[in-house]
Amino acid sequence: MESSQIRLPSVALVGLPGSGKSTIGRQLARRLKLSFLDSDHVIEERLGCSIRDYFEREGEASFRDVEEAVIDELTGMASGVLSTGGGSVLRPANRQRLHERGHVVYLRSSPEELFRRLRHDVSRPLLQVADPLGRLRDLYAQRDPLYRETAHFVIETGRPSVSTLVNMISMQLELAGIVPGP
Ligand code: S3P
Repeated sequence: MESSQIRLPSVALVGLPGSGKSTIGRQLARRLKLSFLDSDHVIEERLGCSIRDYFEREGEASFRDVEEAVIDELTGMASGVLSTGGGSVLRPANRQRLHERGHVVYLRSSPEELFRRLRHDVSRPLLQVADPLGRLRDLYAQRDPLYRETAHFVIETGRPSVSTLVNMISMQLELAGIVPGP
């Protein structure tokens, strides 16, 4: 087959903070032999500082502008696995670009499960509040419909290990004819 006939897929992962987008994305990319990019890492490289520092200095709206530009750029790339920041679905332009330019997987977790994973986290500005579980419940209520609108597939991340989740996603992509079978 000529290389021009090979169409490599573009897969993006969305979900709340702590749902495993980066960890699962990296392993999924390895499994599918695709490149891996994390939009938050690209943003931090551009900003030259942590997202938390940028939030404190410039505010959330300014961060969302940078995020929108980076999502536009990364979803415009030919192929690969992309993990996104949890708030990337807030802007309609991001939802549309993610949905139209690739295959989007929503890693769904309950707020309680996320709280268990993130209770010691200090890097996420939105969770540095007196009641992080309450904040996660609010974020879930606001964003779960947006993740579903953006995604082509929903994967429940409750109990399974990372490698089981990677298997589940690979199988979904194979069944849909997006990636070749084993
Ligand atoms: C955010 C999630 C973070 C990061 C930023 C804002 C959010 O990414 O983009 O702190 O609005 O939920 P993770 O989902 O990787 O934590």
